[in-house]
Amino acid sequence: MRPRVLTVIGFVAVLAVMTTVTSYSVTLYRLFCQATGANGTTQRSAQASSAQTSRVVTVFFDTSTAPGLPWVFEPAQRSVRVHLGEDALAFFTAANRSGHDMVGHATFNVTPEKVGLYFRKIQCFCFNEERLAAGQTVQMPVTFFVDPRMADDPDTRDVNEITLSYTFFESRRPGDAIDLARFSASGPDAKSGAALFAARCAACHALDHAVVGPPLGTVVGRETGVVAGYPYSAGLQRAHLIWTPELLDRWLANPQATIPGAQMPMRVENAADRRDLIAYLAALPRPRS
Ligand code: HEC
Repeated sequence: MRPRVLTVIGFVAVLAVMTTVTSYSVTLYRLFCQATGANGTTQRSAQASSAQTSRVVTVFFDTSTAPGLPWVFEPAQRSVRVHLGEDALAFFTAANRSGHDMVGHATFNVTPEKVGLYFRKIQCFCFNEERLAAGQTVQMPVTFFVDPRMADDPDTRDVNEITLSYTFFESRRPGDAIDLARFSASGPDAKSGAALFAARCAACHALDHAVVGPPLGTVVGRETGVVAGYPYSAGLQRAHLIWTPELLDRWLANPQATIPGAQMPMRVENAADRRDLIAYLAALPRPRS
């Protein structure tokens, strides 16, 4: 009897101390967790860089057109989740509903404003005066990344959501315009994706059985590394992510940077090729379950 009573008293004492410590200071609580491993905090490594690359922000997209520009202008996705420092890809659709060719110019801003400093675009229609032919629709890619230094800035350390807003105006310098038709007018093309799959993936992947790599017929929406009997790398076994179109895009651009420890020895450099491949994989018929 006695030892058990002592144990209970001991527990109550520890609880009391923990409660005091936590209410006293969140920092102390964190220290406590780090020391004891409670709350999973021991997964933090001593190196700042790994904390930075694992940090994820959600980027939301917002679009509008100024009066006088009869274009329909919309984001193709509401948001993307990106790791700091990682290249991301988003698409926007623009359609000229007027009866004549028009030149537009997009302005953009990022909120919260203090994040603007860290938001880096690599490719954007907003760099140019853009001509859209009468009745034409295009899908425009934007590639960007969020500078990992955002994590070190006390002002932005806590930001988890960023909104990127674009407004298209009628251009004041139509003479400088380049044609938006340089972007594929058709959007993602599953047929071209099928051809790309045959040329670039089929040496290692089939749809319904493992070859060098795991089968991919049902990969979109599947968890990473879960095909029974396939000898995945430790990286893919540990990842526990869902193969969304967005994750596939990052994976195909750079497998090892997307899932550390993964062992797929190939990359698809071209963003439009990745988009078509993903459109093909996403459109494959599902076996009934
Ligand atoms: C040279 C061989 C090779 C080529 C070519 C290749 N892959 Fe892979 N792929 C692999 C291997 C090996 C794995 C398993 C990696 C691991 O376990 O880390 C893999 C894994 C994958 C996965 C993860 C699947 C899962 O079950 O989690 C996807 C998705 C994928 N590949 C897509 C593609 C696509 C799309 C292409 C064509 C653009 C392609 N791969 C081309 C070898 C290849």
